[in-house]
Formats: sequence, C-alpha cells, structure tokens
Amino acid sequence: MATPPSPPETTHRLWGGRFGAKSAPELDAYNRSIGTDFRLWPFDVQLSKAWALALRDAGVLSADEASTLRQGLDGVAGRLAAGAQPTATDEDIHTMIDRLLHAEVGDVAGKLHTGRSRNDQVATATRLWVIDACAKLDAAVRGLQRVLLDHATALERDGVLMPAYTHLQRAQPVAAAHWMLSHFWPLERDRGRLAQAARQASSLPLGSGAIAGSAFPVSRPQLRELLGFATVAPNSMDAVGDRDFIADLLYALTLHAVHVSRLAEDLILYGTSEFGFVKFGDAYSTGSSMMPQKRNPDVLEIARGGPARVLGDLTGLLVTLKGLPSGYNKDLQDDKRALFDAVDVVLTMLPAVSGAVAELRFDAARMRAALSSAMMATDLADWLVDQGIAFREAHGAVGRVVRAAEERGVELNALPAEVLASGHALFTTASVAAALSPDASVNRRAVAGGTAFSSVRAQLMQARDAIGAGASSASG
Ligand code: ARG
Repeated sequence: MATPPSPPETTHRLWGGRFGAKSAPELDAYNRSIGTDFRLWPFDVQLSKAWALALRDAGVLSADEASTLRQGLDGVAGRLAAGAQPTATDEDIHTMIDRLLHAEVGDVAGKLHTGRSRNDQVATATRLWVIDACAKLDAAVRGLQRVLLDHATALERDGVLMPAYTHLQRAQPVAAAHWMLSHFWPLERDRGRLAQAARQASSLPLGSGAIAGSAFPVSRPQLRELLGFATVAPNSMDAVGDRDFIADLLYALTLHAVHVSRLAEDLILYGTSEFGFVKFGDAYSTGSSMMPQKRNPDVLEIARGGPARVLGDLTGLLVTLKGLPSGYNKDLQDDKRALFDAVDVVLTMLPAVSGAVAELRFDAARMRAALSSAMMATDLADWLVDQGIAFREAHGAVGRVVRAAEERGVELNALPAEVLASGHALFTTASVAAALSPDASVNRRAVAGGTAFSSVRAQLMQARDAIGAGASSASG
C-alpha cells in the first residue's frame, strides 16, 4: 500500500485550518483524551469500515476508494493489535486512527471523514463498546451465580441448617442452601438490568454528523445492519448528546456491586471466630505483616467496599449530564472515564469473588449448633394454634416460657414440665420438644419460596434454569 512521506508538522489533527496560531501545549494536555479512549479502537475501526461502505453506496466514494480505505483500516487494526502506541500529540483515538490510516493509504484517507463528525463517531463507538462489555459482564455474573448454585446444591444435599437473622439477631432456622440462593436471585435481576442496558445502547447514532444529520445520502438502516444495532436513533441532536445508555449501565453496575457487597459482608461475618460458619481458602486469604495467626478475607472486604467507587462513577456521570445544553458538549468526553472505571472494577472483582466463594468450606456442625431453641418459638406458638388456640393467646403463652428460660439461663426445651405448664396448660415436655425441632420448623415452611427442603429443591431447579445449567452439571 502506498505510504506517502509524513507531513512536516508533527501533530496530526482533524481540525485547525481556521486557526492562525498553533494551539497552546496546555490546551493540548487538557483536551487530550487518548489516555482514556484508546481502548475504543476496535469499535472505531469497525464503524469506520461500515462508514466507508455507506459512503460508497451513497456515491461519495468509488468502489476502489472504499475498498482501499477498508483494507487500510484493517492494516490500522493490525498495527493497533500489535501494540502501536499513541504519539504524545494524538488528541484522541479517532485522531490516532486517522493518522495511522493516512500512513497506510495516503491522501485517500482524507475522504473517510466525509459527512461524519467525531460527535456521531464517539457516540457510536462507545455504544458498541457498552454492548460488548454487557456480554462480558453477563458471563462474569453468571460465573458467580454458578459458584453459589454449586454450594447451594451441596448444602441442600447434605441437609445443612443454619440460623437466619433479622436485625442481625437470630430469627428462624433455614436450610443453608436457602440462604445461599438468597444471594443468587439478586444477581439474576442484575443480569436482567445488564441486558436492558445493552438494549438501550443498541441505537445507532452514526449518520447524525455533528448535530444536524449527514448531508450525504448514506443509508442509516444499512449502517444499523452492518454494525448490529437494534434501531436507528430517531433524532440526530439527541443521538450526539445522549449518554443515558452509560448511566443505565452504571446504575446496573452500582446495584450489582451493592449485591455483591451484601454477599461479601455475610461471608466476612460468618467467617469470624465468633460465628465460624465458613472457612476461607488459602488462595484467597491474606496474612498480616505483624500477627502470624491472621487469615484475612481481603477479597471480600474489597468487594464490600466496591460500590463506593462504582457509585462515584455513576454520580459523576449524572453530574456531568445535568444541565448540559442540547447536542454534543466537550463535557461529555469524561463519560468514558466513568464508564471504563466502573466496568473495570466489576470485571476485576467478579473473578476474585467467584474464586474466593468457590474455595469456602462450610462448617455444618457450627451452623447447627447456633440454632438455639428460642428460634423455634414461632413454631411452638403455631403448634398451639394447631390445637385450636388463637394465635394472640399462643404468642403470649410462648412469650412467658421464653422469659422463664431466659431468667434461668437455659434453653426452652430444658425447662421443667411445671414451668412449661405454667406457660400454657397444653404444654408438655414431649409436645414442646417436638415443636422445637429445627428440622420440623424448616420443613413446615413448604410454600413456594419457603425454606423447606422440598421448596429449596424446586428453587434449585429454577436457579439452574435461570443460568442454563443442567441438573447433572451442578457439582456436589
Ligand atoms: N474525544 C472526544 C470525546 O470523547 C471526541 C468527540 C470530540 N468532538 C468534538 N467536537 N471535539 O467526546
């Protein structure tokens, strides 16, 4: 391919003809975004190749010119993939690609920017990047769901029970698999929000020009088709100024990070010596520089803190967008810093959290030992209801024996028969012991979505369906 000598001036610009003086280095330093937007290059090349075809079909480029430009763009992509780096003066990735294209194909490169602007270009490249990121994020979230599902499957199989907490006070016994799956479903909703963010991004800005639409008769439906967008943006002014699609993704990521932080906090708490329900694996634990005995769950702590940064990215973007006049404004250049940061945070977090959670070992005996008999107080009241007593009266009767047990410092099922009978005439040692069985308590809750093992088995099937995991593929 013809490579003409580089022009004498060192800075390759997409603008500048109207200026007498050279721009100030301070402006260039502040204006430059290539440090952030370099990673858009595969999408910028992709949309530029489509644009060359659209210009050919609009009669702007000859077939030869379009094919030279497309081959040149492939050459540019090859150089970028091989590690071509920006020069100190490349303003942004669009400028860099234009410079490299000139180096590949010579003057004909100057025809590619006909009828387009970096305004519709950057909006299109960023949308393509978002759609691609959503697919990667979905796979990563699914990976964590898979780990939770595998644990839940094993916990169900082993019949493990644990306390469930409200107000962080022991509330009622549950199947440990039920607790594990309580962290699965928020991730499922997160995947729904990621899919929605990808759908919102799937609207084509290219053809909008700087703001008013391209003056050359390019076919936007053809561009839509070539680039795989679902729709053509219906208004050029909106298309170059809209960044809702980034806010949608950042919101989905913020909420996702919040969900992972709640899982992390449960595990950090359950991993303390005081709880001792879980043990952290070696590969995902860190030690202390001073205290030789320490085994710290750093991955989970970083994940607990993760939402701070992602929410910061969302907040920053919304503040950037607020009050902007219509059309493209340079304030928008900062959108990608927030976008890339949030996606990077989550895509770094998920493999680490998935690995840390996969390595956890559960201590079923410790979990069961934490089931105090008072946690079945509701079951005792329900037993009285079964005997025909009104629930209010039953609640009072159980309250009396709970107080008596507390005063004596014993478990409910260790109260002498006469103390039980003073709570309610129907209470006998045997009937109370039966009503206070944690296994019976769990298995009475056999409504859909309840903690009974029969319900949990149905829930496990739902969960497998949700992530497309066959029953047989779930490991034990
Ligand atoms: N680097 C710019 C951005 O990311 C590209 C668009 C520049 N448009 C312009 N009219 N200066 O937003």
